[in-house]
Amino acid sequence: MSTIPMAITDFAEMKARGDKIVMVTAYDYPSARLADAAGVDIVFTGDSAANNVLGYPDTTPISMDEMVMLARAARRGTQRAFFMVDLPLGAFQVSDEDAVRNAMRLVKEAGAQAVKIEGAGPMLSRARAIVNSGIPVMGHIGLTPQTATALGGYKAQGRTAAKARQLYADALALQAAGCFAIVLEAVPGRIADTITAALRIPTIGIGAGAGCDGQVLVWHDLLGINEHEMQRFVKQYAHVAAEIRSGLETFVAEVRSGAFPTGEHEYKIPAEELRLFEAEVAPGVLAGDDWL
Ligand code: KIV
Repeated sequence: MSTIPMAITDFAEMKARGDKIVMVTAYDYPSARLADAAGVDIVFTGDSAANNVLGYPDTTPISMDEMVMLARAARRGTQRAFFMVDLPLGAFQVSDEDAVRNAMRLVKEAGAQAVKIEGAGPMLSRARAIVNSGIPVMGHIGLTPQTATALGGYKAQGRTAAKARQLYADALALQAAGCFAIVLEAVPGRIADTITAALRIPTIGIGAGAGCDGQVLVWHDLLGINEHEMQRFVKQYAHVAAEIRSGLETFVAEVRSGAFPTGEHEYKIPAEELRLFEAEVAPGVLAGDDWL
């Protein structure tokens, strides 16, 4: 694997060559380090940190301050991969100025090399404004979790001709607004294929079939840290929660039984020093308040 850091220009070239782009979320330093070392192309602090690490019910409550704190940690673990951060709900919807200000914060305070925003329509102007400020933007259409309520829940999108046509138009509009790539979430594979073929910029699928130019999954889903029922598009490549549970249960049992710690986990003191110390604290030598 090359150690040359990924650059924004690599992604269009990868699409042209037919090389798949691999993206994964990371919300902390050790996860980002592991993803980076595994050869992931884009390490991404998504606002899915809200439900995956902060315990919120969905992505809507997470704040800019929380995103910055998590992203800073993930940034420290990312060396070769391209590093991208989500603009959370409320950070870009209000105005273009707000969007640019918050995108700048992610660059300056968290080391983001690009930001991702959800939606098209009125958000096209936000994408354009951020791109014009010099910050690369990844679009995100289809199932957009920040506005899932307005979509009627966490459902596949673009399943009628009219809705698929809208997604197609939105993807082209995001490309025209200057996005360097677009996430297609929970979109029928055949629709994603047509959109992918129509775009110069890469599509990154999550539940959008094999024809996308790249794939993204959420860290906690793909590694089996999350154990709740997964969306149809998740494949679990490990079962880390089971490993963690078994390790913790053994730790609890060994502390209670006295099996841990043993001598090998203990620091030693030279015998002579120990003898002197024990002579000092022997009963009757120095007692009680004399030590204070
Ligand atoms: O926040 C997130 O996890 C996302 C997905 C597309 C990976 O936006």
